[in-house]
Order: sequence, then C-alpha cells, then structure tokens
Amino acid sequence: MLGPPGAGKGTQAERFAREHGIPKISTGDILREAVQSGTELGRKVKTEMERGELIGDDLIIGIVRERLSQPDAIAGFVLDGFPRTAAQADALDAITAARGPVICVEIRVPDEELIRRVRGRRVCEDCGANADAFVHQVDALPELCQNTDRCRSIGPKWVARSDDSETVVRERLKIYWRDTKPMIDYYSARPTFRRIDGLQTPEQVREALVSAVASALGLPAAQLRSLVAKKLSGVKGGVKGGARP
Ligand code: AP5
Repeated sequence: MLGPPGAGKGTQAERFAREHGIPKISTGDILREAVQSGTELGRKVKTEMERGELIGDDLIIGIVRERLSQPDAIAGFVLDGFPRTAAQADALDAITAARGPVICVEIRVPDEELIRRVRGRRVCEDCGANADAFVHQVDALPELCQNTDRCRSIGPKWVARSDDSETVVRERLKIYWRDTKPMIDYYSARPTFRRIDGLQTPEQVREALVSAVASALGLPAAQLRSLVAKKLSGVKGGVKGGARP
C-alpha cells in the first residue's frame, strides 16, 4: 500500500488483511509499538518519528526482512508504509524475488484533505489503535477503545498521534514528495501497479482496492478471496509457489 500520510493506507491494509486472512505488516505500527514499550529500537527512533523524518533504510529493511520471513507471511501479506525510498524498494524486490509478484497500489488524496484527516485523527493513548476503528459515525469518538481488555478497563484516553501536528504533517508530506513519490513513479511502470482514488468513502476505497488487486492478478474480484484461501491451505499443507496477493 503506497501513498502519503493520511491517504488511508493503514485503514485499508487492516481491512484487506483481515478479510483475506493474511497479516498486515505496518512499519509505522512496529516502530510506534517499540517507542511505546521503550525498547532499544524505540529509543533509537523516537526523536526522528516525532519530527516526521524517515528512519534509516538499513534499520527498516532489517525489520521488514525479519518480519517477512515469519511463517504467517509466507502465503502473502499486506505491507503498509514500506517501501518509502528507492533503497527500500530494491530491498523488497530482493526479499520477494522467489515469492511471486508484489502488487503495488497507490492511494491518491489531495494534500489539504490529508492534513484535515490527520489533524482529526485520534488514537488510544494506551494501545495506539485508531478511534475510527470502533465507531461508524463521522466526527464522533467512541466511548471506549475496544482493542484490549486493558483498554476496556481503563476507560477512554483518545489523543492525537505525536507526529500529527500540522507542522509535522507538512514535514512528512515534504519528505513524501521528495523521497517516496519518485519511487512510486518508478513502480508505476510495472504491470502489477494500480492507482486508486482515496477521496471516496472508506467502503468505496475498499472495493476499489479489491478490484485493483484482483485485476493485477488477472482475476475477477469475486475470485480473489478463494485464491488466497487456496494459497493459505497450500502453505499449511506444505505446498509452495504460485501467485501471491
Ligand atoms: P506511518 O505510520 O507509516 O505513517 P504515514 O505513512 O505517515 O501514514 P499514516 O499512518 O499517517 O496514514 P495512513 O495512510 O495509514 O492513513 P490512515 O488509514 O491512518 O509512519 C510513521 C512514521 O514512522 C514515519 O513518519 C517515519 O518516521 C516512520 N516510518 C514508518 N515506515 C517507515 C519506512 N518504511 N522508512 C522510514 N521510516 C518509516 O487514515 C488517516 C485518517 O483518515 C484516519 O483517521 C482514518 O480514519 C481517516 N480515513 C481513512 N480513509 C478515509 C476516507 N476514505 N475518507 C475519510 N477519512 C478516511
């Protein structure tokens, strides 16, 4: 999933992964969890993340390489927030060379809408989950984060993400246009590249994403889920190879 901050990558990656039974791998989530738990990785990246800067390629590539080697990612995965630079894109090609096509979907949204969305985003102070995941009305925060027993017991603590202030978002957008957009343009020449309009409702974007992935695999959208299920059962049964969504 490719696109600028606030495009809806995380929202859509989460749904697609859940509906197709494959893991969502978000480098932003991995880093935020590390910061939240105060691990060595978290201490290393905290300041850069708060400023909206990118973390070094070697560190991020190492994290993704290790995560993609885990058994639950063998049949397929959704990557959210990676790759973001040419070096990361090259590394992803090398890591996945023997594993079937990588499908790249860019979600496009105008900058002013991105800033509006990100400034309005609230996350659970305890676990980092997005408030929108627990509510269906626009502009209404749910009373409680439902993500963990702990969240349910301690009550609502919705806060802005530490890198969501307007100044930092503008810095993140500047970095996106400078470092990530050229990499996306490079991907756009590939037959497995698709671009979708992220200005639609989340449900319309979800449908566009499923159609985009299916068409990149040369399938009708309705067959996508059964292909993934077949692939997953093949992996569980020890069969390898084939197309990977
Ligand atoms: P990361 O967490 O990846 O942040 P990001 O790319 O800036 O993306 P966001 O999480 O802000 O937005 P999103 O596109 O996921 O949108 P979302 O679905 O949440 O990275 C954070 C930091 O980690 C980076 O700045 C960097 O420091 C570091 N990092 C991470 N990966 C790295 C890498 N590979 N290399 C180096 N450094 C890395 O939606 C946003 C809001 O809009 C939500 O409130 C949502 O509910 C709402 N929304 C979603 N869809 C719609 C819609 N269709 N209509 C209306 N509202 C919508």
